[in-house]
Amino acid sequence: MFKPIANMKWTSAFLTAGLLVMGTAACNNQEKTASETPAAGISKQAWGQADGQTVDLYSLTNSKGTIVKITNYGGIVTSFITKDKNDAASSIVVGFDSIAQYLQSPPYFGAIIGRYGNRIGGGKFSIGDQTYSLATNDGANHLHGGIKGFDKVIWTADPVSDTVASLSLHYLSKDGEEGYPGNLDVTVKYTLTDEDELRIEYDATTDKPSPVNLTNHSYFNLTGDVQATILDHQLQIDANGYTPVDAGLIPTGEIKAVAGTPFDFTTANSIGSRIDSVEGGYDHNWVLNSKGSSLQKVATLSDSVSGRYLEVFTTEPGLQFYSGNFLDGKFINHTGSAVKLRSALCLETQHFPDSPNKKEFPSTILEPGQKYHSVTVYKVGVKK
Ligand code: GLA
Repeated sequence: MFKPIANMKWTSAFLTAGLLVMGTAACNNQEKTASETPAAGISKQAWGQADGQTVDLYSLTNSKGTIVKITNYGGIVTSFITKDKNDAASSIVVGFDSIAQYLQSPPYFGAIIGRYGNRIGGGKFSIGDQTYSLATNDGANHLHGGIKGFDKVIWTADPVSDTVASLSLHYLSKDGEEGYPGNLDVTVKYTLTDEDELRIEYDATTDKPSPVNLTNHSYFNLTGDVQATILDHQLQIDANGYTPVDAGLIPTGEIKAVAGTPFDFTTANSIGSRIDSVEGGYDHNWVLNSKGSSLQKVATLSDSVSGRYLEVFTTEPGLQFYSGNFLDGKFINHTGSAVKLRSALCLETQHFPDSPNKKEFPSTILEPGQKYHSVTVYKVGVKK
């Protein structure tokens, strides 16, 4: 059962807008029809236990009836329910209805990734004279923050809102956690706007220099049904270059032009059209033309079956497009279908992989006294 939030800091603007907290029970189904759409606002339900603590599931609903559900376990976006061109609602992200499945370590479905999204080669890096050894969890490499990254910790949740529903999540990553130096104080704020934007703001401070590269690992399938692969989705990425990788998916350090290669998504192209000429499929970092200078639109994904499209805006200089190459059907989505090879894809905004070992890449080292601030927006639309 869903409960209204007791400690909401609603402002008068929010109340004037008539966006009241959802006070009554809503059904637990991920799929909703337009007629069942709950009132806009935010609600909370107890969602079981992880690490001996209670975790919760928050539902953010906007005035259009779009719903984003987020748990404070791993800051995971469990569903993002929007209407398709026929006004049928379904979730465009892979997720589960219960915490139990998330405790079985799915491949980062919907989670916040940190301290370092993507790989650090050999699980080692140096700052000054000091070499640090990180947990290695991807062969010899460090991936997505290590064995117990930010995707597997419990965040303190604070539903804060002005005119739209937001959920602010906080986590203190202790000095030495997974091998990283310094106490890192992290806040990730999710906001669902009335324009169907899921805005994610990442902020952090540290008391020792440390690499920081935060992202969200949502797996999208715009059809809302993972029985269909994402190979017919069209993708456009505003990037003239990408970072080629070695066999362990560590960048070589080179930035290669996409022109004339299967990595050229400067104009919209179907994902399946050239994927077979990329060994293992797409799992690469695109060097965005925006260079991470300000919040800019960097990619558009679209699907003609549902009519949905997804625009990605970010302040980050890179985008990992991962075509779901390791998905193997082991996990069952909330729709009851197995999440199979290439049935979903990720568009992870980030700094480049292995930056702590690549002096030529933009730095990911956060210094004490500096403020880490990064914004990414996933905006959904529909063409009727
Ligand atoms: C990232 C990586 C992939 C893979 C997935 C999780 O996107 O780039 O290689 O590890 O996470 O399976």
